[in-house]
Amino acid sequence: MDKTIITPWEVKGNVDYNKLISEFGVSKIDESLMKQIEKHAGEIHHFLRRNIFFAHRDLKFFFDEYEKGNAFMYTGCGPSGPIHMGHATVWMFTKWLQDKLGLDLWFQFTDDEKFLFKDKSMDEIQKWLYENMLDVIALGFDPKKTHFLIDTKHAGIMYPEAIKVAKKITFSTVKSAFGFTNENNLGTIFFTSMQAVPAFLPNIIAGKKMACLIPHAIDQDPHFRVTRDVLPKLGHYKPASIQSMFLPGLGGMKEDGKLSSSTGEAIYLTDDKKTVRKKIMKYAFSGGQATLEEHRKKGGNPDIDVSYQWLRFFEEDDNKLKKIYEDYKSGKLLSGELKQILVDKINAFLKQHQKNREKAKDKLDQFIFKQ
Ligand code: TRP
Repeated sequence: MDKTIITPWEVKGNVDYNKLISEFGVSKIDESLMKQIEKHAGEIHHFLRRNIFFAHRDLKFFFDEYEKGNAFMYTGCGPSGPIHMGHATVWMFTKWLQDKLGLDLWFQFTDDEKFLFKDKSMDEIQKWLYENMLDVIALGFDPKKTHFLIDTKHAGIMYPEAIKVAKKITFSTVKSAFGFTNENNLGTIFFTSMQAVPAFLPNIIAGKKMACLIPHAIDQDPHFRVTRDVLPKLGHYKPASIQSMFLPGLGGMKEDGKLSSSTGEAIYLTDDKKTVRKKIMKYAFSGGQATLEEHRKKGGNPDIDVSYQWLRFFEEDDNKLKKIYEDYKSGKLLSGELKQILVDKINAFLKQHQKNREKAKDKLDQFIFKQ
């Protein structure tokens, strides 16, 4: 009934992140790692300060290689619909890492995956591929250091590597890693081999052995657990990763751990300001009291209030966030006012994003990898 499901294709129920750390076998980001990141970045991103990026694999190893100039990053996007704020958080952080560390980024678009796993035509997936690429570019990645790999377009260089991975993975491994059954179509069984490829393709292209860091939301971890087992057998390092929590759904964290695009309660990067306001006012789960008098007297609960939880992601200023927390808790700030703060924050971001997105149309060619 209240079962929690977390796979790369489905996230449901209450997500207990501490439990995930032990179940997935990832590690918490500790103080000494924070220091190492700060040493190189010159600052600590608020996603790290607030534990939104909360776990990792082999981050210390990655930074040791980075210090030798021997490192790159890899992340990706599955194009099957419009991009929502939840997707954007991982990429904002990835962009920050790129800016601060000067890393090359390989960005995979898994159009094959979405075709295989969703009931959608290839034409529709290609439309979303184009739309999603614009959003990624609009977030401000460096065109000189960012290389888009589109699975069906770059199959010529990816497939020969993917089959090397596939040869080392059995059906029984993907069954247990992803919960697949005999009913799964053939393509889905093969797919994780494609998602493994960008974690070492740059080595093949550059002709050297480099360390890879994958920023991603925690649901993608099963792919990289499998990848980590296989890559040393092919002469590459295990990829390191840094993993984020999910941005909660507007409807509240209790029902859905992840911001879902299918509930009609996500905010898309292409939403106009009226739509954003309407969605937040109507759907954002409130931690406020039932009446104004009660709220003034008892105060609200920011820990379950989705608008507050979203501000943890999108209000960078710790002092401002702290004041909002205290004012809401004391009853000084009302739920409607808190929602308005979030509306203004998101709309300011989207206004700039949508301008960048228009300009991105002329930049596409600079981002798509050419051999
Ligand atoms: N499978 C991911 C999705 O469905 C897309 C993806 C491909 C990805 N490669 C990645 C995500 C690497 C994070 C890191 O959205």
